[in-house]
Parts: sequence; structure tokens; C-alpha cells
Amino acid sequence: MRIAVFGATGRTGRPLVEQALGRGHEVVAFARDPADLPDGVRDDDALTVVDGDAYAGDGVAAAVAGGGTGAVPVDAVVSVLGQTDAGPDDLLTVAGRNVLDAMADHGVERYVTLVGAGVREPGESVSLGGKVMGSLLKLLAGEVLADAAAHVEDVRSSDTRWTVVRAPRLTDGAHTGEFRHGTALELGLRDTAARADVAQFLLDCLADDRYVGELPKVTDR
Ligand SMILES: NC(=O)c1ccc[n+]([C@@H]2O[C@H](COP(=O)([O-])OP(=O)(O)OC[C@H]3O[C@@H](n4cnc5c(N)ncnc54)[C@H](OP(=O)(O)O)[C@@H]3O)[C@@H](O)[C@H]2O)c1
Repeated sequence: MRIAVFGATGRTGRPLVEQALGRGHEVVAFARDPADLPDGVRDDDALTVVDGDAYAGDGVAAAVAGGGTGAVPVDAVVSVLGQTDAGPDDLLTVAGRNVLDAMADHGVERYVTLVGAGVREPGESVSLGGKVMGSLLKLLAGEVLADAAAHVEDVRSSDTRWTVVRAPRLTDGAHTGEFRHGTALELGLRDTAARADVAQFLLDCLADDRYVGELPKVTDR
């Protein structure tokens, strides 16, 4: 499969790119600064790098189109974009629209994106710990939560075959391959997810065409 990765230089994006290449996929890595991609992957023949800015929209269409002259559009897009300290509060919403528009233009249908577990489905059952965490998040990172929720609304109303993966607090723990996932998982205050395992789960969703039109959660075992 040929996969465009937005957020390829991030803490989830880097293991995601490494694992995707390790699983035999071709990867179009979108990066503001390609030098921030993991050292081991830059010379990989299966890697194409497209530089640009997903918020401004520069380079987004080129990445979805497969990068380079004569390339064919990718089969799928994964977004692990994340707000940075100095960056805009509406990154996921605006960049997400740029990506979804480019997908529509190039006939690319499969989209997998990562947001925090604080994004809820209407009527979803939430544990007490989850409710406390949700209130804390609204208080401490209300803009991040609102941005992710707006992105998810856009994704839901797109014509893509989408999966929204939701994760609790991310850690840089080792890739174990051992994690839980499901649409009805109730997460508490102490739940975490190792970014490398989240990366695996995002790729599993693509490879097995799982959770299409759903918002699964993923957490450490
Ligand atoms: N932190 C948590 O506990 C937690 C929990 C659940 C979900 N999440 C969500 O999971 C996602 C990934 O998290 P993470 O920790 O892996 O993120 P991260 O390490 O901060 O990486 C963010 C990525 O987004 C890229 N990016 C930001 N603005 C961009 C732009 N305008 N154009 C192109 N790329 C841009 C960054 O590029 P540069 O390298 O150039 O900066 C980087 O590659 C985020 O949306 C986050 O909100 C986080």
C-alpha cells in the first residue's frame, strides 16, 4: 500500500513511518523539515518526502498525489499532525480540511486520523475517570479539544472511508505490540498509550480495513 503520512516528523509519526516501511508499504512522508525524519529511513527506496506546511496548505496536494513527477495518488492517508507550542490552535481543523480537499481532488478515499480520547461521540458512555479527565482537558487544553472535535466533524461529513483513532495520554514507551482497542473502551485517568503502539494500531486499521466510519480508542494493555 502507498500511504501519505502527515505529521511524519512527530513523536507518533516517526515510529509510524518506520513501521510502515518495515511492513513493506511505500510511504510519502509530509514534513515541514525533512531533516527531522528518523535517520534510518531517509535513504529507503520506498520513502518519498514532500515538504510543505499542512496549515498553509503548501505541498499537501503534492503529497496526496504521491509526490514527484509521474507519481500516482496514494492509496490512503494517515494524519498524526499535532499542535505545537507556537502553532495555531486550529491546526487539525484547517490542515485537516486541506488534506480532505486534496483527497477529494485526487480520488483518495481511505483516511485514518489520531485525536485525543477527550473527543466524545454523542451519547457515549464515559467512566467517572474519563469524565474527570474530560473536564480537566476542557479547562487546561480547551482549544486543543475544540480543534480535534471540529476536525472529527469535518471527517465525519467527508466522503472518505475514515477511521478516527482516539488515544489517552501518549507516552514514548517501547513498541510492545500489546494494546487494547475498541469502540466501547472506557478509559480512566491513569490510562496511557505508547506512541509506537498507537502507530501500529493506525497501520493495522489500514491494513485490515478496520473500524471504517468508527472512532475506536486504543490504550496500553
Ligand atoms: N499528547 C497526548 O497525550 C495526546 C493524547 C492523545 C492524542 N494526542 C494527539 O495525537 C496527535 C499526535 O501527537 P504527537 O505527540 O505524536 O504529536 P507531536 O510529536 O507534537 O507531532 C506533531 C506533528 O505535527 C507536525 N505539524 C505541526 N504543524 C504542522 C504544519 N503546519 N504542517 C506540517 N506538519 C505540522 C509536526 O511537525 P514538526 O516536526 O515540523 O513540528 C509533527 O510532525 C496530536 O494531534 C495530539 O493532539 C495527543
